[in-house]
Amino acid sequence: MNVLVIGSGGREHSIIKKLTVSKQVDKIYAAPGNGGIAQEATCIDIKESQIEELVTFAKENNIDWTIVGPEVPLIAGIVNAFQVEGLNIFGPTKEAALIEGSKDFAKSIMKKYDIPTADYQTFTNIEEAKQYIESKGAPIVIKADGLAAGKGVVVATTVQEALAAVEMMLVDNQFGDAGSRVVIEEFLDGKEFSLMAFVNGEKVYPLMPARDHKRAYDHDKGPNTGGMGAYSPVPDLKQADLDYAVEHILIPTAKGMKSEGRSFTGVLYAGLIETTNGPKVIEFNARLGDPETQVILPLLKNDLLQVIMDVTNGKNPDLDWEQGYCIGTVVASKGYPGSYQKEVTLPSLREDSNCFIIHAGTGADKEGRYYSTGGRVLLVGSLQKDQQLAQKNIYDYLRVFDEDDKFFYRSDIGFNNSK
Ligand code: AMP
Ligand code: GLY
Repeated sequence: MNVLVIGSGGREHSIIKKLTVSKQVDKIYAAPGNGGIAQEATCIDIKESQIEELVTFAKENNIDWTIVGPEVPLIAGIVNAFQVEGLNIFGPTKEAALIEGSKDFAKSIMKKYDIPTADYQTFTNIEEAKQYIESKGAPIVIKADGLAAGKGVVVATTVQEALAAVEMMLVDNQFGDAGSRVVIEEFLDGKEFSLMAFVNGEKVYPLMPARDHKRAYDHDKGPNTGGMGAYSPVPDLKQADLDYAVEHILIPTAKGMKSEGRSFTGVLYAGLIETTNGPKVIEFNARLGDPETQVILPLLKNDLLQVIMDVTNGKNPDLDWEQGYCIGTVVASKGYPGSYQKEVTLPSLREDSNCFIIHAGTGADKEGRYYSTGGRVLLVGSLQKDQQLAQKNIYDYLRVFDEDDKFFYRSDIGFNNSK
């Protein structure tokens, strides 16, 4: 079969690596892909947002399956557009992807179907929003309703900070339409984890839990990023909390979406927090997480394309997992998530049977040398029976980046210390 993977990050490289070991896959295309992906698939020069061009490409190149990585094309309706043409595509329709596209919609589903989450209210009016903040006090969390490239959440520790956040969204329109509505919610305390599942209607097949490290610097200091590393599974997560999250969060959400006429097919991602009253939802996404995917897929023993076909056909994919521990540390451009230099040549990346490399923001020149094209450059991962050994492998490998002050990485990924 011919498979097209849409996206250009680490998550997509990880999906492609998994597809290369499938006996059912003949040819893999990536749109647009990256420097590392280009070693394993044919990259085509179509962006993830160019839905019409992607449909045409799939038709003209006999693509049997299309797999969508990022949220933007899902929310824009790429699945609807492929389905109209009778093309196989894995992901939710735009109606179902609204669970990620609108935080107000996601909260309304949780309220209606009794899914544990923070108390909240939604506002479009600045005065009402300010009054609500004054009445609730801090800490309090302000969220832009729509997609804001990961910058739409402000965890305010003072009332002042919260008032400034609503002012920035509702009055200064910093996020445009995405911030013209805000969700203001209760601050929850606890350790966070990510739980994803393959979903088709009411059928839910959970993946291994994972934890990402969102802050830029060691010990969870510094600004929020797209993710500086991850590990899976999560040793401190209680089995009872995991079971509870499947029973009381993932399954009722899938059922609720179906009842709403927005039946979900694809990967449902729950960002969860373990409170003293059990796990609660921080956010839903309508796709695989990044960088969680990079540490979860190496643990999956199944043929990924077969899983996708089974889930789509309403069959149990019988997910089978390695008994190991997988960690991945991101190498980022110095300055990220603020401004940083691009097109910096990477040191040469040696083969190491104990580690794997997943590319995110890289390009490759004619001589095959890699250079940086984005904030998160690549991820060095290791899957081992033993957690300490996985860490040692990764941090031994990462020394190659220490000679260059153009890159940085966290030195504490996988040490169980992250929220
Ligand atoms: P999000 O962009 O929705 O992933 O949110 C970014 C981060 O903000 C989350 O990973 C949490 O650390 C934090 N956050 C979001 N909502 C809450 C909440 N209600 N209470 C505490 N922290 C939160
Ligand atoms: N790791 C968080 C996300 O994928 O949104």
